[in-house]
Amino acid sequence: MTTTEQCSKLVKEVYASFDASHDFEHIQRVLATAHAIAATEPTANEKIIELAVLLHDVSDAKYATSKDIEATILAQLLLSDDEQQQVKETIAAVSYRGGYELEATTIEMKIVRDADRLDALGAIGIARAFIFGGAHGSLIYNDDEEMHTYESEEAYRAKDSAVVTHFHEKLLKLKDLMTTAYGKKLASQRHKFMVQFLQQLSAEREGKI
Ligand code: ADP
Ligand code: NI
Repeated sequence: MTTTEQCSKLVKEVYASFDASHDFEHIQRVLATAHAIAATEPTANEKIIELAVLLHDVSDAKYATSKDIEATILAQLLLSDDEQQQVKETIAAVSYRGGYELEATTIEMKIVRDADRLDALGAIGIARAFIFGGAHGSLIYNDDEEMHTYESEEAYRAKDSAVVTHFHEKLLKLKDLMTTAYGKKLASQRHKFMVQFLQQLSAEREGKI
């Protein structure tokens, strides 16, 4: 068994307890998209990318029961200290953190981050947002909610916005935060689809369509 296969087996058990917005299917889609982007970026290290994708949500504070799941799994894999460090740093650069993200300095960080964010866009992004909202008892939309920016990552995390608010707070901003050429291309198509979805939703609310 390769290191990636071993890691895949270990993380699969962890994601089995997360809701369908962050399950192993999310990981498999991000892997597929990361491979597609990496195919256009010849210097990318596929092993680091695959391990970072597999592990990027296991210690997510929204789901994780223990903060150390990522470290525990990493310690079980046969990796050099340097590889372990690269995987950890790549994962740290993925999260949006309410706009307080870290800078993506390596090509691996850029690819994993773009791939994860692409899964928040388009048809799949819409589906995931509503699955997440459902799991958190959120509203579909809330006209009274301010679609504002947050003063810190903590403030962003503390608020369970309505799903349509979340489109404005985060999802519609992602296309301009893409870092790879292929990621930008896919994000722009998926963004258009989401805008069309929101327009249709508004029109339906008023009985216009
Ligand atoms: P990150 O770690 O990059 O901030 P998250 O794990 O918080 O990303 O979010 C990933 C996905 O979960 C979002 O793209 C969206 O689909 C869903 N999500 C997160 N917060 C909300 C929310 N308040 N309403 C609806 N969906 C949400
Ligand atoms: Ni993710």
